[in-house]
Amino acid sequence: MITPYSRLLLLSVFLVLFVAAAVGCVSNSSSTATRTPVPTGEKGPVETTDEIPIASRQDIKLGFSQLGSESDWRLANTASIREAAKEAGIELLFDNAEQSQEKQIEAIRRFIAQKVDVIAFSPVVQSGWEPIMKEVKQAGIPMIVSDRSVEVSDSSLYVTFIGSDFTEEGRKAGKYLLDKMRDVPGPVVIAELKGTEGSAPSVERGKGFREIIAKREDFQIVSSEYANFTQKEGKEAMRALLREQGSRIDALFAHNDDMALGAIEAIEEFGLRPGEDIVILSVDGTRKALEMLAAGKINVVVECNPLLGPNLMQAVKELMAGRTLPKRIVTPESVFTQAIAEKAASGRKY
Ligand code: AHR
Repeated sequence: MITPYSRLLLLSVFLVLFVAAAVGCVSNSSSTATRTPVPTGEKGPVETTDEIPIASRQDIKLGFSQLGSESDWRLANTASIREAAKEAGIELLFDNAEQSQEKQIEAIRRFIAQKVDVIAFSPVVQSGWEPIMKEVKQAGIPMIVSDRSVEVSDSSLYVTFIGSDFTEEGRKAGKYLLDKMRDVPGPVVIAELKGTEGSAPSVERGKGFREIIAKREDFQIVSSEYANFTQKEGKEAMRALLREQGSRIDALFAHNDDMALGAIEAIEEFGLRPGEDIVILSVDGTRKALEMLAAGKINVVVECNPLLGPNLMQAVKELMAGRTLPKRIVTPESVFTQAIAEKAASGRKY
């Protein structure tokens, strides 16, 4: 039988339990609000709080593996990364692999040993990265892919990919040529100078270009050579091409400015007029190429923006603050024609 006294006792016990449970709930929710794990979930939980402004963090260490120094674009890209890191107060461990995938892998392994907070890299080629990226993931270090894409079966191996849309760049070059040749009866004989074999810009620019020019059956690519994105090799490849094809070539699609500049030298040596006898299409938008565009020796330059440093540092800081990044950050880019070349060249820093 329940007496008034035992009823009172039961009620008090319920009350005490209820208050204890409520207090527990509140303290749990406040502790999760100030801890935000790194999105990869591998290094975390990282002790970051929303009360600390991300710009005030001075202790971030970033390891960056640059693929080389083959072009003016690459030099501008390196300078942008160095300057942006300095400005953001991020400690940068920088390595230049001089076109070697093995050296890039070694550098990335060193960054793991040095216990950096984030690793970023610009991959020289698209394939062969999965094992080292798995090592990075196992070490709990978030990875950012910069400039060129990688081919991996597991996209959780990197947090974000920041860079241009190379396929779209190829399409833009193709559209220019279609338009330029719209009243010219075929066949239109085209030569192509590609960059590094197996690299994202070579594969994707070639793909986008072909996609567009397929609209005219009488456009024929008669030669497609690798010249590793350098002026020297661009010149050599164009020389060999002219020896072989003579003045048959109507248009040249050079996958970057350095190779276009080399090809222009070879064309002039051969006694032809670049920009008139051979339509020249290039990609990047360096000052030297824009000057050639203004001089009428190049017909169009599709922009590829090398100034990825600020975006990269922003991404690193966001990541360290526990924020989720979009998987793909595309750099906005335009097309330079001869009409705007002089103005564009005069303000160009690289
Ligand atoms: O990955 C970007 C490409 O690499 C640029 O178009 C080229 O100039 C560079 O070397």
